[in-house]
Amino acid sequence: MSILYSEQEKVVTLHTASTTYQMKIDKYQRLLHLYYGVRIDDMDSSYYLQYSDRAFSGNIAEARYNRTYSLDVLPQEFPTYGMSDFRIPAIVVQYEDGSYALDLVYHSHKIYPGKYLLDGLPHTYEARDEVVDSLEIVLIDPVTKLEVTLLYSTFEKADVITRAVKVTNNGSQKVSLQKVMSASLDTMNREYDLIHFHGRHNMERQFERVRLSHQTAQFGSRRGTSSHQHNPFFILAEKETTESAGACFGMMLVYSGDFQATTELSQFETVRTQLGLGSEGFNYVLEASETFTAPEVLLSYSSKGLTTLTHQFHHLIRHHIVRGKYQYKRRPILVNNWEATYFDFDENKLLALADEAVDLGIEMLVMDDGWFGKRDNDQTSLGDWFVNQEKLPNGINHLVPQIHDKGLKFGIWFEPEMISEKSDLFKQHPEWHIHVPNRESVTSRHQYVSDLTRSDVRAYLYQVVSDILKKAPINYVKWDMNRSITNNYSLKLSPEEQGKFNYLYVKGLYELLERLTTDFPDVLFESCSGGGGRFDAGMLYYTPQIWTSDNTDAIERLTIQHGTSFGYPLSTQGAHVSAVPNHQTGRVTPLDTRAVVAYSGIFGYELDLTKLSIDEKEKIKEQTAFVKQHYDLLTNGTYYRLISPETQAGYVIWQLVSEERDESLLFIVKNKAQANTPFKMVRLKGLLEDNEYQVETYEKIITGRALMTQGLPIVETYRDYDATVLYIQKTTC
Ligand code: DGJ
Repeated sequence: MSILYSEQEKVVTLHTASTTYQMKIDKYQRLLHLYYGVRIDDMDSSYYLQYSDRAFSGNIAEARYNRTYSLDVLPQEFPTYGMSDFRIPAIVVQYEDGSYALDLVYHSHKIYPGKYLLDGLPHTYEARDEVVDSLEIVLIDPVTKLEVTLLYSTFEKADVITRAVKVTNNGSQKVSLQKVMSASLDTMNREYDLIHFHGRHNMERQFERVRLSHQTAQFGSRRGTSSHQHNPFFILAEKETTESAGACFGMMLVYSGDFQATTELSQFETVRTQLGLGSEGFNYVLEASETFTAPEVLLSYSSKGLTTLTHQFHHLIRHHIVRGKYQYKRRPILVNNWEATYFDFDENKLLALADEAVDLGIEMLVMDDGWFGKRDNDQTSLGDWFVNQEKLPNGINHLVPQIHDKGLKFGIWFEPEMISEKSDLFKQHPEWHIHVPNRESVTSRHQYVSDLTRSDVRAYLYQVVSDILKKAPINYVKWDMNRSITNNYSLKLSPEEQGKFNYLYVKGLYELLERLTTDFPDVLFESCSGGGGRFDAGMLYYTPQIWTSDNTDAIERLTIQHGTSFGYPLSTQGAHVSAVPNHQTGRVTPLDTRAVVAYSGIFGYELDLTKLSIDEKEKIKEQTAFVKQHYDLLTNGTYYRLISPETQAGYVIWQLVSEERDESLLFIVKNKAQANTPFKMVRLKGLLEDNEYQVETYEKIITGRALMTQGLPIVETYRDYDATVLYIQKTTC
């Protein structure tokens, strides 16, 4: 068992291969957090707890005459509001009498092999040879009987601990839940930096590293999706921590809607870190006997720097979040017609693209937005998921076999969660769009959001999407979502239930995705929200890949993919080669460079193949051959960030290494040309010291040790945006 309970010390210890997490039921039956860090065996860490009299830090009733005991001073496992811990609470409730105080007292716990389950929410699962154990700790308020169950699972090999929370109303009166975090963690301050990933549409997940200060740092989303602006993943790293050394831990929410991440540096220099559902608009009224489940958080610690932490999250997502047929199966190289044609296409144009695609080694044609209703621009037809007869006069059932006959797979775009005001669906069911009665709704991209909290809406969407998928053997679905949610309200929910709306929307989406992905197991789903506006572990439970960004500019993609890489593996990131001048930035980069950048993701194209020169076609043939040859390394290789975009070095360099460490790919992109540049060496990573390697373009055989300590010279090129990828192979002799 990786989870142990010491009856004598009243200490619960969770172990993974390299980490330990510990908590203690103290003499007043309160659950204190003791430790999270490098693995310690046979150790009760409560020796570090300090009991001291602190003014203005009150004492709970049981400790009335003991001024050295205050919840405000001690590290809490799941802090509450109104009972003397004045730091940021993990849970806030209000009872029918209007009071807020919640006192969570240890009641019981159980430890069992296997993974706990979360009904209707995405969650990690047990698989392969991983050892998973679980712990449930029940805490109960002695007055109101409100019950909070803290759930933990250990993924021993992955060095990850998962957490979730259930709240059950054991009383006879209603309780309103106003805040429920999925995880809260109190640690000593180690001069932490917060590393988080902010951004905007077309520029998602930009790396930012800031020192914690006594101002509470908080970020999250109020958009109904996890958002382009912030990602539900962050890291706390000690100030000296680098890619390859130092302590850090990360938290990732397995959820796709509003979220809130908080770090608070307290008056006594301890740090509280929390992650969970967003609080605004959240007011979940629990009826007697009802249970609320907060989404799962993944927690991982590394004492060996950020790269190791990254590998731990990559491992967990690849093997214990992503599911289905395409989890390990090779994904096809696709061409998507969006940037090639936008809305202006028809059957002939698609067939012409397909003809070119086959010759170039591309394996799938994806028909993007515009194939349905009267959709010739973004102002109409969302909801009318019926073929546009002018563009596809012979229907999808005629188009798909033709594409298949050419030897290509076929993919299709949907935006099921949306409804256009100009649509037949809106005329029939105006009540289906999310709106507050008697209030004008906010439009965004001319569209409204359909109310996925409603079972009739979900049933309709299931029907129309599955009808299309049954009409023809479609191989791939791109599931898009192109606006943020406003006017949050459902006609089907009572006034009292409106505070559940945001959460129920996301659960409705999950239910729909679960049904469709279960009923169409052969279809590869890729999710998208204007690119990477919903790039999170929740969506990855249903769709093994996500369109990383609408920004296809190779140079901007360097920072987007770099930021994304901290938490999410390459096998989840859609990356395409597009035309120049780039449609988002106007930048012109060489075709080779665009491919070098897109190789680090699920590879594809997003340009008009019928307009390519002979030279470009030759290059694309080489690129698709390269991806096929190195697919496993590109998708499943261990990822190392060697020179990051934020260094201003003039280069961005990253590396992939095979599991056996006998092969590697080194990617070098020059993002800023400099005059008279100094000599530069880059130290490789992940190779075997004693192995000898042949590095492409280098005559000499070089040992792994030399490549990782002395490094490899970066051969100077003069132009901006030049790029190269070098294949490195262990020599056989
Ligand atoms: C946003 C997506 O990110 C694009 O790739 C494209 O599918 C458009 N939507 C279509 O409207």
